[in-house]
Amino acid sequence: MYTPDQTKKLQAESKEWLQVKDENKIAHDIEELRNVLRFHEHRYYVLNDPLISDFEYDSLYKLLEKYEEQHPGSVTQDSPTQRVGVGLIKDFPKVQHLVPMLSLENSYNADDLMDWDRKARELSGLAEIEYCVEPKFDGASISLLYEDDMFTRGATRGDGETGDDITPNIKLIRSVPLSAAFSRYGIRQIEIRGEVLMNKYNFKKYNDTLIEEGMPPLANPRNAAAGSLRIKDKSIVSKRNLEAFLYHVSYTVKSGSMEPVTHSGMLEMLWELGFRSPKNEMKVVTGINAVLDYVNDFESKRDDLPYEIDGMVIKVNDTRLQEKLGMTSHHPRWAIAFKFKARQATSKLVDVTYQVGRTGAVTPVAKIEPVQVGGVTVSSISIHNEDYIKEKDLKIGDTVLIERSGDVIPQIVKSLPELRTGDEKTIIYPKHCPVCGDKLFKSEDEAVWRCININCKAQVVERIIHFASKDAMDIRSFGEANVHKFFELGLLKDIPGIYRLDFDAIRQLEGFGEKSISNLKLAIEKSKEQPLHRLIYALGIRYVGETTAKTLAQSVTGITELSEYSLEQLQQLEDVGVKVAGSIHEFFRNKDNMHMLSELETLGLKLTQEKPLVVEGNLGGQTFLFTGTLNKLKRSEAEARVEQNGGKIVSGVSSKLNYLVVGEDAGSKLEKAKKIASIHIITEEEFLQMLPG
Ligand code: IVH
Repeated sequence: MYTPDQTKKLQAESKEWLQVKDENKIAHDIEELRNVLRFHEHRYYVLNDPLISDFEYDSLYKLLEKYEEQHPGSVTQDSPTQRVGVGLIKDFPKVQHLVPMLSLENSYNADDLMDWDRKARELSGLAEIEYCVEPKFDGASISLLYEDDMFTRGATRGDGETGDDITPNIKLIRSVPLSAAFSRYGIRQIEIRGEVLMNKYNFKKYNDTLIEEGMPPLANPRNAAAGSLRIKDKSIVSKRNLEAFLYHVSYTVKSGSMEPVTHSGMLEMLWELGFRSPKNEMKVVTGINAVLDYVNDFESKRDDLPYEIDGMVIKVNDTRLQEKLGMTSHHPRWAIAFKFKARQATSKLVDVTYQVGRTGAVTPVAKIEPVQVGGVTVSSISIHNEDYIKEKDLKIGDTVLIERSGDVIPQIVKSLPELRTGDEKTIIYPKHCPVCGDKLFKSEDEAVWRCININCKAQVVERIIHFASKDAMDIRSFGEANVHKFFELGLLKDIPGIYRLDFDAIRQLEGFGEKSISNLKLAIEKSKEQPLHRLIYALGIRYVGETTAKTLAQSVTGITELSEYSLEQLQQLEDVGVKVAGSIHEFFRNKDNMHMLSELETLGLKLTQEKPLVVEGNLGGQTFLFTGTLNKLKRSEAEARVEQNGGKIVSGVSSKLNYLVVGEDAGSKLEKAKKIASIHIITEEEFLQMLPG
């Protein structure tokens, strides 16, 4: 729709408009500003590929809105302020929302919020307003329709008026009830809005499996959730463990008059009917100062939440007052979003270097001009493999968009080819190992090029570094620099060598005082006690990430038992496919590896555990099923707790079930479970004790 020249011109104009303070410039060039906004709407809604930040878009939009407010005569019918959204990318069947899905006005600081509160007070004539404050979930928005207590339709937001009908996929989200007794509240038909998300634990797990399979990870859980909703294969969607928070009732047809009259009441109603609404996360407060306190309070907890939020939403609590305040063409006046500090930034890709990993994989690393992303300075980012570079269309000299999402390592979201000058250079992939010089190979079913010389110095060193790293054996003070140094000096040549270090020789080295030597000794000694799953992960078996390592540790009491597992037995384990099983099998059949394990045992490492592990503080991938009536928790609440803590709900009793939680009057599931020895049958009390805190 826009040519590259137009794109460049409009992008340059955007930057000019962002500087504009003078009203006269607006009067003269008002249509130019509208064009700039239309262009960005197209980039955002149609192409899904914005060129400016939300904040910049909002500033431009507000400028136009302000001008039009002051000069109502100048408003054209097709001004960006006069509609809800634009076109769609065709794919799923389209459905019309009963009420257009408007987006919220954004605010970024206390002043913005106080302004908004002042306007609301003026319009309502009230001295203070009661607000409901709740998290702004960072996922993909959906609308759900229930008719006569049955779930009848689920849709994506789309352009706000028309979305994609994704009913089958929504049905796979377990926190969305398939029927709900709205009739108890005098409601015959209801449209509810909410957000679909992938929690941080499942996102990490999903990314781990991508990495284990040699694929690039996703930049954030939002993309993972949005992408998953549009997959047509139900079995893949259900593996993604999506969740949904429902936070707004947009439309009801009444059959009585018992409907709540406050927003918080609506959230409570949804909760009561079995939905996951932010009932426990919301707070009802009076006056804007109390709003600010809660917003700040929540921002400090942001990183500890199991899911990503990008801000808070403040809503007028009284629904009659909401109606009175009404809406502009774009946003409701009774609600506003408060956005937390952005975790995205742009920078320049200045160079690409290549690292050889412990499995010989050669990974390109983008060197970028250092930039702050969410409080951390980023200067290099893995760009995974050759296909990834092609897919993201990366060139040296490009401006790139970077995102750091929670504790996920920073990723390049995309390049901005529109901003190229013509001096950018194509990235040329090496043909030989940058460390040992051997020729690189790539197998057909893989995306990475590998150095297959197992004695390649880089690989040996990387295996040792991985073994000692934080998530593996966690040997503090034994970081990369020391491993490189000891290796170069011949003081260390393999993993068991860590436990045979010659400290007298190290004492002679520059920078090693008694204190650092004793720290190092202590850290090495402590690592001997690490749990089995860490040791399995530390071995660096191909495709075995932390999740698979935990699965393996859960099935044995000693590591050497794994050498007795057949390929078929390995494949019975949770999430272990043919490829992963093959790699584990090969590792434990290899004499050198078994010799290394027995050396480690002789050196004092623990290769056994008393009983299969339950993962640190959470339910780490364990599967649960509830049966009978629970006393303390509602079924949906209990299921949400399992998922929040990294466990999984399964639909029936089978050997894949780890825990059956039994309430009152349990029936056939309990009988069936009793016949499968591996299932732990526990009470609700025992279940509650498994949860952290
Ligand atoms: S209320 C008419 N509440 O943020 C008001 N939105 O631009 C409907 N979002 O499109 C929205 N958490 O996708 C609301 N607690 C929350 C939310 C929330 C996330 C999303 C939603 C909306 C966007 C705001």
